[in-house]
Amino acid sequence: MTEYKIALVGFGGVNRGLAQLIAERNTEWKATLGFSIKIVGVTDRFLGSIVAKEGLDAGQLVALPVEKGVFGQLPGGTAEAFNETVIRHSGADMISEATFTNPVDGEPATSFCRWALESGLHVVTTNKGPIALHGPELKQLARRNGVAFEYEGSVMSGTPVIRLARQALAGADVQGFEGILNGTSNYVLTRMKDGMSFDEAVAQAQQLGYAEADPTADVEGHDVRLKVVILANELLNARLNVSDVACSGISGISLEDIAQASASGASWKLIGSAYREIDGSIKARVGARLLPASHSLSGISGATNAVSFNTTMLGDVTVSGPGAGRIETAFALLSDIIAIHTTHGKQ
Ligand code: HSE
Repeated sequence: MTEYKIALVGFGGVNRGLAQLIAERNTEWKATLGFSIKIVGVTDRFLGSIVAKEGLDAGQLVALPVEKGVFGQLPGGTAEAFNETVIRHSGADMISEATFTNPVDGEPATSFCRWALESGLHVVTTNKGPIALHGPELKQLARRNGVAFEYEGSVMSGTPVIRLARQALAGADVQGFEGILNGTSNYVLTRMKDGMSFDEAVAQAQQLGYAEADPTADVEGHDVRLKVVILANELLNARLNVSDVACSGISGISLEDIAQASASGASWKLIGSAYREIDGSIKARVGARLLPASHSLSGISGATNAVSFNTTMLGDVTVSGPGAGRIETAFALLSDIIAIHTTHGKQ
């Protein structure tokens, strides 16, 4: 039976969610998935770090309070985040990288991914920064080292999008996509339809854990722009940089605009899209659009996300589901580990 040794890099909601899944489901996974997971290290800039080659108790980790340096209270733990030691020297087969997204340079997450890949470790991550900003380099590093770099959770959390398009729609000739790719902004627009103010709705989205550390990234479209770059480069073989994608958000939409749209059955949505032009170039943008009730994305409400792939073989294929959330995003990490087991699994 395969047992994967994993180091968790960042121990906020998402990796805590993965630890919870491991605590609750490891035994079941042996039978249903053909492997189990042992946590051999954890590092977090606020909580500190810990390495235990014999494995850590996932349930105990989940129950730890969110207190500065708390890992220092565990045997073998320290209040300092020795990221490089945990990544390179915990004896892990893979890391699960779930630190915050830095939309400017992707750091420090990109360095964490590099350290792991060049040390021969697989990487699963939910972090948009390293992929949108350094995807080609990291993929090449993974190939050179014979390991996997998987990031399903970077777009629409655990709802299958990247692997679905890459595998199940391979050969369907994807020509473009358009989607509601940010849960926070869609939640805000939905609540504003009920008459709630923009600020109150953003505060609620923060409380519910959908929003980024800085919610400006959600409401001004910057989070969607990263996702559009990831999807376009992945599915349309584009070579887009963040600066290639025109971007605006929803902060200019008033309660009056929304009420007026509703009266005619239309809805404001923040849409990220990319299309192949006739000359082969890729045109990508992010912005608020007024969708008629007949549009396939107009009925997507609350924090739900959805994306429509435009394909030559099937016409439009639309998938919708959660785009954020602790367990939903942790599930994406599990789906990445399952993919690694399928392609690189020890027999
Ligand atoms: N802040 C993001 C959202 C989280 O609201 O969709 C998932 O990327």
